Amino acid sequence: MPELVERFIRNHKLDDREEYRKLLEQLEEPETAEYLRTEAVRLREQYYGKKIYIRGLIEFTNYCRNSCYYCGINRENQKAVRYRLSAEEILACCENGWRLGFRTFVLQGGEDPWITDKRLVQLVHSVKEAYPECALTLSVGERSIDSFYRLRKAGADRYLLRHETADEVHYGRLHPACMSLPVRKQCLRNLKSLGFQTGAGFMVGSPGQTYWELAEDLVFLKELQPEMVGIGPFIPHHDTRFCEEPAGSMELTLKLLSVVRILLPTVLLPATTALGTLSADGRERGLMAGANVVMPNISPKNSRKQYSLYDNKLCENEEAGEGFEALKRCVETIGYYLSMERGDALV
Ligand code: 5AD
Repeated sequence: MPELVERFIRNHKLDDREEYRKLLEQLEEPETAEYLRTEAVRLREQYYGKKIYIRGLIEFTNYCRNSCYYCGINRENQKAVRYRLSAEEILACCENGWRLGFRTFVLQGGEDPWITDKRLVQLVHSVKEAYPECALTLSVGERSIDSFYRLRKAGADRYLLRHETADEVHYGRLHPACMSLPVRKQCLRNLKSLGFQTGAGFMVGSPGQTYWELAEDLVFLKELQPEMVGIGPFIPHHDTRFCEEPAGSMELTLKLLSVVRILLPTVLLPATTALGTLSADGRERGLMAGANVVMPNISPKNSRKQYSLYDNKLCENEEAGEGFEALKRCVETIGYYLSMERGDALV
């Protein structure tokens, strides 16, 4: 194996961005990629055995004040049918999830101005009061450090905020000028400093991205040391400016999952919905590349269609007992099992 690959596996890091770029280049050799994948699976099993953690994802609002160019629920998209779940509807999702065995709920939404600190704190209190044993994850975009502090104090345990890309120029290709990468990175540092188990992450194959941009994502992740990393392929949405762009590659996404498992061996790494959307066996392949988390959608069925970040987004009926059983079986056919634990980050 190339020296660089051996060194990455030994040290869980490389010296600089250029070395990460070369690593990705060297992974074009199928044998090298397979070697790396084997190491990723070994590490994943060393720390987590055969367990797969499950998170119940509740997409509770698709209103958004941002206009990320890739995203189907960006504010410019007049065709998006907007919705917002009431606290009662959200709690009903949790109840349904609880009965199925979920012990983590992820409340995800656009940057909805209606979701003030007061309302969100109230919601966090209600969920934590009803399900004190459960972990509560928020994923509602950039907020002030004061806001993060209030949410943390209210009982939120984790926070997901993908950085999307750590390269300044590439960030500018994907976002309007009013959005800033330094602000996003600062949000992530603030979340960590407040004691949130923090999730960063990026899309693979977003328009204009090369190994050079991806290399910076790896540099950034190694420095930030997030507890969770969400990685999925870019998938075009028909009502965005990127509608004609090709989707990111499954193979490259899988390689990056393996790379991130080695970079941050104990990281909680989901096989994402976008991966499952690219191909029917996408999620399984993600788990076999080093991922150890799945996040089935437990939102009400009709709102799932409206939470349309990209085309053909997977929204199978996992909240109904039968979808859940299918997931269980699928995980078992690849030699893993669904854990009913909260699955906190290892310290
Ligand atoms: N393709 C893939 N992922 C997308 N996301 C948003 N739009 C797309 C798209 N077109 C991802 C972003 C965001 C997460 C909630 O969904 O990375 O952080």
